[in-house]
Amino acid sequence: MACAASLFAAVPLAAPVVIFKLTSDFKEDPSPHKVNLGVGAYRTDEGKPWVLPVVRKVEKCLANNESLNHEYVPILGIPEFTQSACEIILGADSPAISGHRKGGVQCLGGTGALRLGAEFLRAWYNGTNNSATPVYVSAPTWGNHNGVFGTAGFTDIRSYRYWDPAKRGLHLQGLLDDMENAPEYSIMILHACAHNPTGTDPTPEEWKKIAEVMKKKSLFPFFDSAYQGFASGDLDKDAWAVRYFVSQGFELFCAQSFSKNFGLYNERVGNLCIVAKDTDNVNRIRSQMEKIARTVWSNPPAQGARIVAATLNDSALFAEWASNVKTMADRVLLMRALLREKLEKLGTPGTWDHITQQIGMFSFTGLNPSQVEYMVKKKHIYLLGNGRINMCGLTTSNLDYVAESIKEAATGSQCQ
Ligand code: LMR
Repeated sequence: MACAASLFAAVPLAAPVVIFKLTSDFKEDPSPHKVNLGVGAYRTDEGKPWVLPVVRKVEKCLANNESLNHEYVPILGIPEFTQSACEIILGADSPAISGHRKGGVQCLGGTGALRLGAEFLRAWYNGTNNSATPVYVSAPTWGNHNGVFGTAGFTDIRSYRYWDPAKRGLHLQGLLDDMENAPEYSIMILHACAHNPTGTDPTPEEWKKIAEVMKKKSLFPFFDSAYQGFASGDLDKDAWAVRYFVSQGFELFCAQSFSKNFGLYNERVGNLCIVAKDTDNVNRIRSQMEKIARTVWSNPPAQGARIVAATLNDSALFAEWASNVKTMADRVLLMRALLREKLEKLGTPGTWDHITQQIGMFSFTGLNPSQVEYMVKKKHIYLLGNGRINMCGLTTSNLDYVAESIKEAATGSQCQ
């Protein structure tokens, strides 16, 4: 009997996920000089992953806590986790908390929170059948935003201007004009702080202008907060934009990731913080989200959320965590200063003040695709094709090599 063709014969091979492909290429590269400035994960000055000391401590307590078990947790998550997660982004004195009009849903990382929010909005936002509602992401944005909203069923994903390559900074006027021209009730994806990939955030005054246009056009703010604490080292400062929008009376969603600020990358700890007009709205929204979560992951995992909840709900542990976050943020600030200094000392063509002006995990170097190719292929320094580098991949040992390589890339013929 002849073999029947596979039922999957027509499945095309998908392109690899660029950022994780970079990591595997880096791992396979035998060069002793190799440097990974790709995926956004914190590294110590020895180039090693860092388990936050506060996380180690809490993990040991949890392991010794005989009262814990592995029963299912509620579909919407561990209440101590979702409540404290909402509190750190909204601020303990938030009018949304005192007004009982906030609620959280535990999700699989920040991506899960974005996806749950997207699925909910597609089904229920401002009426029904919203797949045609325009969703705007910044140009450029984190590579996964388009995919998350597209896979959730949104068919009209657009971008608003954000980055001005000439000035290597925020294109405020372009952003405001694009929001002004967006159809009313469009959904706007906003980076709460430490914009990925540009490392460029609006100032408070600029955020106020953005909020003003968004209010006038009834645009819905969906914040992505993946780096609270990483931008400035100060958890409150990095939540400023979200808190300002709440103070202006917006209903909003905020997808929170604890991958970076707790170093819990593989535990998938996320929260979708909902702020609505009143308690009744929050309850109905969460009830629908429970239905969505049930059909996607059914119940969230407990370990990472327990670590975060235990830390956020104990003042001594909280203080220790804030100091651990500051350690990471300060190392990034130091690397920024040293890289800029070295590039300038080497006489690298171009200006490099943007390296210290940008904040958070990433720097948008301004290297063009052929310069990036030179860095990867010839120098074994792995970075994204758009020139983004993870500042945490720099160490005092590899900094000179990276700076010299950037200089070569910027002066060589490959950069024309
Ligand atoms: C990044 O942008 O490098 C991180 O957020 C990792 C990821 O999932 O893309």
